[in-house]
Amino acid sequence: MKILITGANGQLGRELAKQYKDKKGIDLILTGSSDLDITNLKVVYSFINERKPDVIINCAALTAVDKCETEIDMAYKINTIGAKNLASAANEIGAEIVQVSTDYVFGGNIDKQLTEFDEVNPQTVYGKTKLAGELLVKSHNPKHYIIRTAWLYGDGNNFVKTMLALSKTNKTLKVVNDQKGTPTSTVDLARVIIKLVEDKNYGVFHCTCKGQCTWYEFTKEIFRLKGITTEVLPCSTDEFPRAAKRPEYSVLRNYTLELTTGDITRSWQDAINEYLL
Ligand SMILES: NC(=O)c1ccc[n+]([C@@H]2O[C@H](COP(=O)([O-])OP(=O)(O)OC[C@H]3O[C@@H](n4cnc5c(N)ncnc54)[C@H](OP(=O)(O)O)[C@@H]3O)[C@@H](O)[C@H]2O)c1
Repeated sequence: MKILITGANGQLGRELAKQYKDKKGIDLILTGSSDLDITNLKVVYSFINERKPDVIINCAALTAVDKCETEIDMAYKINTIGAKNLASAANEIGAEIVQVSTDYVFGGNIDKQLTEFDEVNPQTVYGKTKLAGELLVKSHNPKHYIIRTAWLYGDGNNFVKTMLALSKTNKTLKVVNDQKGTPTSTVDLARVIIKLVEDKNYGVFHCTCKGQCTWYEFTKEIFRLKGITTEVLPCSTDEFPRAAKRPEYSVLRNYTLELTTGDITRSWQDAINEYLL
């Protein structure tokens, strides 16, 4: 099976490539933005027509949520049009498309774990562009897997690395304690994506690790596991104003996984423990 991973230099792209490399019968095509700019329809069509992948896993995105608030055109170009281009080119050759999406498609203000059957209501440009991407992927290719995740960390820039770096230069750190979500390892997400593709289990899926915490609680656990003595102080979102509004409660339930393949993700504590070993 030939698999094209776009955004292969990103956190999830790298982990997928790593896990697929251990599998037999997989022919991988890995592309970054300089090999395949997903916003360029002509380039996308000719690349996909020439290489003929069976599955395209789109890990390319503009993930800087604050930047999306000001770079609106760029955000729609990459997160929406780029996704549509890949879905449509895949459809032309009968290939499948995996589109990775986000908890930001929801409003983030309901104190309830959200399933794939709950109403979407994006509050940020990032969330709107990702939701529009989901909808276009669905309408351009019936063989789609749409997988929403959150608070992702892996091989690349992420919250965990930022906190570890800050701990080196700060004796105390204030961290937001009024936003809840679920830290998710790319290891768990990649495992789920590979399983869904193996099973040809098309549809919309939530995929985060299990459990929930605030950024403050997450930081406390990271420092505990690493034996870091920097003091962590809880603070409110108001103390760190950001361009994009952050969700207060954004916990996804992997409900479609539970109902179909089974939920193979670990607790967020087990996943971060392994990541920091
Ligand atoms: N990070 C999170 O916390 C989070 C949370 C929820 C959902 N997600 C979703 O999960 C997916 C993977 O996220 P991630 O954290 O792995 O992302 P990431 O590390 O930010 O990587 C994104 C990659 O997208 C590529 N890219 C950007 N513009 C492109 C273009 N025009 N053409 C081709 N490639 C382009 C970049 O490639 P180059 O490096 O080659 O330029 C970059 O490596 C994304 O769909 C994201 O929306 C992420």
